[in-house]
Amino acid sequence: MANVVIIGAQWGDEGKGKVVDIYTAEADGVVRFQGGNNAGHTLVVGNEKTVLHLIPSGILHKGKRCVIGNGVVLDPKVFLVEIEGLKAKGYLQDDSQLMVDGAVHLIMPYHVAIDKAREGRSTDRKIGTTGRGIGPTYEDKVGRRGIRFADLLKPEAFRKRLKEVLPEKNFYLEKYLGQPPLNEDEIFNEYQGYAEKLRCYLGNASVELDAAIRAGKNLLFEGAQGSMLDIDHGTYPYVTSSSTVSAGACTGSGVGPTRIDQVIGITKAYVTRVGEGPFPTELLDEMGEQLRTTGAEFGATTGRPRRCGWLDIVALREAVRVNGLTGLALTKLDVLNDLETIRVCTAYRYGDQLLTNFPSDLDVLQQCTPVLEDVPGWQTTINEVTSFEELPQQAIDYVKRIEAWSGVPVVLVSVGPRRDETMLRSNPFA
Ligand code: GDP
Ligand code: IMO
Ligand code: MG
Repeated sequence: MANVVIIGAQWGDEGKGKVVDIYTAEADGVVRFQGGNNAGHTLVVGNEKTVLHLIPSGILHKGKRCVIGNGVVLDPKVFLVEIEGLKAKGYLQDDSQLMVDGAVHLIMPYHVAIDKAREGRSTDRKIGTTGRGIGPTYEDKVGRRGIRFADLLKPEAFRKRLKEVLPEKNFYLEKYLGQPPLNEDEIFNEYQGYAEKLRCYLGNASVELDAAIRAGKNLLFEGAQGSMLDIDHGTYPYVTSSSTVSAGACTGSGVGPTRIDQVIGITKAYVTRVGEGPFPTELLDEMGEQLRTTGAEFGATTGRPRRCGWLDIVALREAVRVNGLTGLALTKLDVLNDLETIRVCTAYRYGDQLLTNFPSDLDVLQQCTPVLEDVPGWQTTINEVTSFEELPQQAIDYVKRIEAWSGVPVVLVSVGPRRDETMLRSNPFA
């Protein structure tokens, strides 16, 4: 048995959903532990595409328990739409497949209104958020004025919490952000409507996961966003508001760190980023456009075009260290099929210094330029290849160089969006 954490090793959208869907075959349960519906995780099975924002990416596997841990922030309206969408497609026919921890914080209408209004202002502090209310919800969690999933299910407690917090939110919305105030009764009625539909999902993640581990079951923890968007270790302030690194799997689910066996980081064969913030290997030329078009790099949540650039080994090594990665899953290798030469950043130039560690100072990072090495491309289609040894030699060499640069074995190679366009080199549950 093993417990495996999956995290994004870049700025999100690395293909975590696809990898979690594949690894679920080996797992008994899948756990989301942070973030909310800022995430968009895409699964492609046959010709059917499913995009999940909140529900763990194991949900397409009948009978596999899907848990939303305490570290997640949940918008009940979005959650219900996702549940109904899955049911309509024939998944989640048994409600007991899904569970939400009572300590999950609720995204409230004022969180979304505040997020959107802040982003709409013409200041230089725009983050380029997804506008889903994520930051304001985590602010209230840390500020001890949040409303949790268990509160939603107790009308009196919910009313009391709302009454306490709403005047302050309305003051800020009206007086500072110039937005209309929100009505207490309307919010109460809307959310109590959700409560009845969601009551059946209430559970205790820590207790349940502990019992599963004691019973020798395999658990899979599904990170959202990516390591470089982590609130502590990312490119602050251009980050999301949660702990996206592997350690977040423990605080966000109530499972102790001694229970985690493997940590797999997902990395694209190049890099993308959505939203504002530094991106040292970004390509603002035709090459960037080619990666965006070939890789269909448009956000699964907001539809925004993703910024594209060469693989950044300095950033990848940072992800290896802060997450304690034991393996890498390399995705979108097929997107490089046409290239004669692939470029990889192996260090940063900062003034007359050569940096091999990712700078924590944003001012330094913003002045860094990438030192690029050329790697020969394979210039042939690899999407049909099913075993690693059958890849063109140049593709094998590219993977092996990534292993050498990062110091971590590549355990999975993905050559297309579909579940079956994947090569498993070793099994993290073994
Ligand atoms: P996530 O947020 O990390 O789950 O990733 P997203 O779903 O936001 O973005 C990844 C996108 O790449 C999705 O559209 C996937 O269907 C697609 N994808 C995943 N792996 C591959 C791959 O190996 N090749 C190609 N061409 N597309 C892939
Ligand atoms: P998945 O799980 C890529 C980015 C936003 C913005 C910053 C803060 O699909 O990989 P937020 O709404 O979280 O306050 O926005 O983080 N961001 C993501 N970028 N993939 C994601 O999720 C993201 N979730 C948030 O674009 O730059
Ligand atoms: Mg995504």
